[in-house]
Amino acid sequence: MKLAILSVSPRAYSTQRLRTAALDRGHTVKVLNTLRFGIDLSHDEPDLQFRGKQLSDYDAILPRIGNSITYFGTAVVRQFEQMDVYTPNTAAGITNSRDKLRASQILSRHNVLMPATTFVRDRADVIPAIERVGGAPVVIKLLEGTQGIGVILAPDRKVAEAIIETLHSTRQNVLIQRFVKESKGRDIRALVVGDRVVAAMRRVAQGDEFRSNVHRGGSVEAVELDPVFEEAAVRSAQIMGLKVAGVDMLEGNDGPLVMEVNSSPGLEGIENATKLDIAGAIIDHIDNQVAFPQIDVRQRLSVSTGYGVAELAVHGEADIVGKSITDSGLREKDITVLTLHRGAQVLPNPRASTVLEAEDRLLCFGKLEEMRSMIPERRKRRQRVKKLPKQPIHDA
Ligand SMILES: Nc1ncnc2c1ncn2[C@@H]1O[C@H](COP(=O)(O)OP(=O)(O)O)[C@@H](O)[C@H]1O
Ligand SMILES: [Mg+2]
Repeated sequence: MKLAILSVSPRAYSTQRLRTAALDRGHTVKVLNTLRFGIDLSHDEPDLQFRGKQLSDYDAILPRIGNSITYFGTAVVRQFEQMDVYTPNTAAGITNSRDKLRASQILSRHNVLMPATTFVRDRADVIPAIERVGGAPVVIKLLEGTQGIGVILAPDRKVAEAIIETLHSTRQNVLIQRFVKESKGRDIRALVVGDRVVAAMRRVAQGDEFRSNVHRGGSVEAVELDPVFEEAAVRSAQIMGLKVAGVDMLEGNDGPLVMEVNSSPGLEGIENATKLDIAGAIIDHIDNQVAFPQIDVRQRLSVSTGYGVAELAVHGEADIVGKSITDSGLREKDITVLTLHRGAQVLPNPRASTVLEAEDRLLCFGKLEEMRSMIPERRKRRQRVKKLPKQPIHDA
């Protein structure tokens, strides 16, 4: 394949290792400076310029988008996606994982366990927020910090309040998070490639530091991951839409607590700690997947007016319980079942003969109007915009 690594640091360990691994496998590989692209939107087909000239054809890209260039970098990745070039990490995945609040919101929707976290803005809400996550000591985090910068441990409520107020006054948004004491300055970094963890290490903070980041002097050791940690890491990466990710987890009393998912994980620490060829695993994964460019399925399936995707829940008393998909009448209503979720099980492309059970959830593509009528508790007519009331503003 012909691969482009998007990076602004060609000499960094990770970039060099990825480039070498690709060369060793007989691929053509170029490291392209992310900031030298031009996104051309004037033509019929989506196109890209590089250093002022039309970019040649690539089969795949591997984006390594640093924190300082997220906006421009993800725009370039999105343009490659529009051109049907394979990327293991989508622009949406990179954007979602970069913002700690946004990532936590998405992960919590999918029941991934995280340290209790809260987000408030008004001064009056700060103290109650600290109490809700378990009281001081409490961890305060800037939304877009990395390498441990912007992660603060506040020993008591007063100090926490002062720090948060100071940050708010400089227009910085912060997360308030339970301090996971039992993790004792240690955390787990799992490197996910595709749908498995290819390597994992434990990072241990230096001295009385609680942040275990390598950039904060943390030391690393290879670990054999407990399957529960592996599953949490793979699920988190999948939910974020990342096929290459470094997932950071604390070792809580009841198992893994996911802190963050990194879309450009550094390879030096983890390759040295584990002596594994992680760069090679990443290149091999891309080589395997190159025929399947990322498609924003929801967007593509919603381009026909009136059609879209929805999840339908089969209620206990619904008349389709006990019927096969063929006999359910869904097809007649122009609804196709893409996947069937039953408890923790997922049936992709369920057969027409599959018998529906109460509490099944069906991911469907079809006419939105027909599907709407199958979501009983949320049935909503399109509301007319009402006339402005005679008294638009009044007390009580
Ligand atoms: N809630 C917490 N409880 C205990 N330690 C934490 C907590 N959150 C972060 N840490 C420590 O701080 C480090 C940095 O936090 P993290 O959220 O990963 O930010 P960054 O993006 O800067 O790496 C973690 O690796 C972990 O060692
Ligand atoms: Mg981290």
